[in-house]
Amino acid sequence: MQRITVCVRQILPHAGAIARAVACKTISLPSSSGIPDLRQPLFSHQVRPYSTSKTDSTAPPRLSLRGDSIAVRQQKVEAASGLKTGSLGMPDPAFVDVLDKLGENVVGGFILPASVAPGFVIDGKEISIPMSTEEPSVVAAASFGAKLIAKNGGFKTYPAEPIIIGQIQLIRPEASPCTPELVMEKLQSDDIERFLKAHALGEVAKLRSMTDRGGGFRDGFSVRKLTPRMLVLEFRLDVRDAMGANLVNMVAEALAPKVRELTEWDTNFRILSNNASQRITRATVMLSPASLAFGKWNGDIVAKNIALGSEFALHDENRAVTHNKGIMNGISALGLSTGQDTRALESAAHFHARHLGINPETGEKRYGPLATWTLNSEGNLIGEIEVPTPVGVVGRLPVAHPGVATNLRILSGDNITSENLSSAMAALGLAMNLSALRALGTEGISAGHMAQHDRFKQVVPPSESSKGSLK
Ligand code: MEV
Repeated sequence: MQRITVCVRQILPHAGAIARAVACKTISLPSSSGIPDLRQPLFSHQVRPYSTSKTDSTAPPRLSLRGDSIAVRQQKVEAASGLKTGSLGMPDPAFVDVLDKLGENVVGGFILPASVAPGFVIDGKEISIPMSTEEPSVVAAASFGAKLIAKNGGFKTYPAEPIIIGQIQLIRPEASPCTPELVMEKLQSDDIERFLKAHALGEVAKLRSMTDRGGGFRDGFSVRKLTPRMLVLEFRLDVRDAMGANLVNMVAEALAPKVRELTEWDTNFRILSNNASQRITRATVMLSPASLAFGKWNGDIVAKNIALGSEFALHDENRAVTHNKGIMNGISALGLSTGQDTRALESAAHFHARHLGINPETGEKRYGPLATWTLNSEGNLIGEIEVPTPVGVVGRLPVAHPGVATNLRILSGDNITSENLSSAMAALGLAMNLSALRALGTEGISAGHMAQHDRFKQVVPPSESSKGSLK
């Protein structure tokens, strides 16, 4: 029996929100690993399982692609995803006409690897995750992490409500008698709010159809004073399966003239906020130390080193940003392959992380890790992630871009929703982080990275690769 001190992050219900506390305690690591059921959902307000169908959590993942030729991988993924034979592979040259409609000044197509990371068991269902990235170790890390987590029963996920914030900037004209306080009171009154919402519904047909589909305005308006002559009015829209940026901008633009009329203040910017901290998806896993053992590495030591690496990111911003970059390696690759705005995903993730760390000297919150790893009292490794998921599965790209449509189908068959995609993103981020922390806490990151890069040398001799040209 070994005793170690670890930092344990606790989730506490606090004032209707989720608050975190960190406590250091000395625990005993058991020599064997009985795996209890996962704790009660940590985030019960958002529990909406990805799938209710169950897999045998002890069975190895059904789909494995390692060592196969490209043709065999294509056949296997087509069969597993219900895709027509020949759906995968290089696009038809005529595809450039579609790209011409999607982009500006198009001169061709720019191709990245289309990869698949199989073996993710998410809420009891096995899925494959499409990824597009220039970095081979990213897909290898995703598959490795997924397999390890599948052996331990898989991921439990809590997808986000698809809420987006819209903002209208208000400026006090020089001679206006209307104080900021008066404007705030007016815009937050029930009658005015009802009137403005009805006005937007009348003006924006897309908002009406979104409302018919169960989305639309959520909560009341909020108005904040930024300076004595500047306010911001914020509204929230549930955008269902859309990414929603255009809709929110249209609603802000429709509201602004009425807001100006009612307040006699000028309106300036009318735009969504890329702060997606209202759209947080969570995932949790639990791994037995035994499942982490490999080579000369004892599983308890591996689990302990992962927890210590997580604590490093909790207390050190320079480490946290690298920790989060590894998570986003996966999330952006899934985002790119499914036609998401990867810049929105990245900016929302790093903004959300701004309070997830703890300054060890002052105890104040600051930039920190999106995922954490702690040891529970039985010595099992608990992984938790929370990431903003501003994603959409309807609109231009899923319809017009055959690669995006195929990848959404690989991910979720006929049942693709923004919740499914959000769950897959959170699970993928956690798998990426597990693989990185396991490597960093044991044999180091270079061995795996360099093994992947050596494959490149088989295609391009060093003299060519140093010129940076594939011609
Ligand atoms: C490299 O692209 C990502 C890592 O640096 C992530 C990490 O350090 O956690 C390996």
